[in-house]
Amino acid sequence: MPETNDLAGGFTSIDDMADKNAFIEYLKLIDSLAYFQEYKQRSFELLQIREGSSVLEVGCGLGYDAVAIAELVGKSGSVVAVDASRIMIDQAEKRLENLNLPITFQTGDAHQLSFEEGSFDAARIDRVLQHVPDPCTVIREMTRVLRPGGKAVAIEPDWETFTISSADKITTRSLVNFFSDRFENGTIGRHLYSYFGDAGLTNIEIFPETLIITDLTLADRLFDIINTTRQATEAGIVMGCDAKGWLDELRESDANNRFFCSYTGFLVCGTKEE
Ligand SMILES: C[S@@+](CC[C@H](N)C(=O)[O-])C[C@H]1O[C@@H](n2cnc3c(N)ncnc32)[C@H](O)[C@@H]1O
Repeated sequence: MPETNDLAGGFTSIDDMADKNAFIEYLKLIDSLAYFQEYKQRSFELLQIREGSSVLEVGCGLGYDAVAIAELVGKSGSVVAVDASRIMIDQAEKRLENLNLPITFQTGDAHQLSFEEGSFDAARIDRVLQHVPDPCTVIREMTRVLRPGGKAVAIEPDWETFTISSADKITTRSLVNFFSDRFENGTIGRHLYSYFGDAGLTNIEIFPETLIITDLTLADRLFDIINTTRQATEAGIVMGCDAKGWLDELRESDANNRFFCSYTGFLVCGTKEE
């Protein structure tokens, strides 16, 4: 059984993880934070979702965004939400009960979408490409199923934009690179512009979205800092004494209200040619 609570690698196959609940709780936490709510809202606007739109949500997780989109498209519209994980789709369907919204949740692989060409007005993917083996294929698939003139949006982090305030620059760099490299595509954010272009999307717009956290407990829940430091030590990337000193410094900064970290995600929108 793979490592529990491995937030960098685990989202690739949640159903195989020992502690599936950790992933559910993680997505609930994300959904409660203003940073995520605000960029998600911006993504709906960029997709020009309106009454009657047909929208595809790829890698829908717990289905929160699919529900928000369904409220925008109304009864004359439709939302199809796909996720590789049976656990996630079961959770999403449970939320849908009694809501009377036009959503279909289904399991599926983003690399091989089971829809006809031109089926949707808009397609959205949010923090999923960082986890998939072949992000270019996924973006091409999303483009294929859009109608001409339809909009695609992706929002993905670039983990090498992660900053954390520490006097120990060398350990910080080693840990940031180690964390980024544990994702399938830890630097996907910087590649979205070219991957969108390669998929035939035009009028590409890019919006950097920076999250700043000044609380170590929340930062650890979001970025798996203590677990990552332990794993980097076990892998011989950093020495145990340096890792301990680094974490001690973060705890002291936090106690003195001086803790700071940030990361930047990229919200990218493109249009399928008419
Ligand atoms: C970090 S979560 C993001 C979920 C959701 N988009 C959100 O914003 O809350 C990544 C999701 O991508 C799904 N996923 C990973 N690989 C996938 C694939 N190849 N096809 C479809 N979904 C995939 C995971 O099961 C998980 O639900």
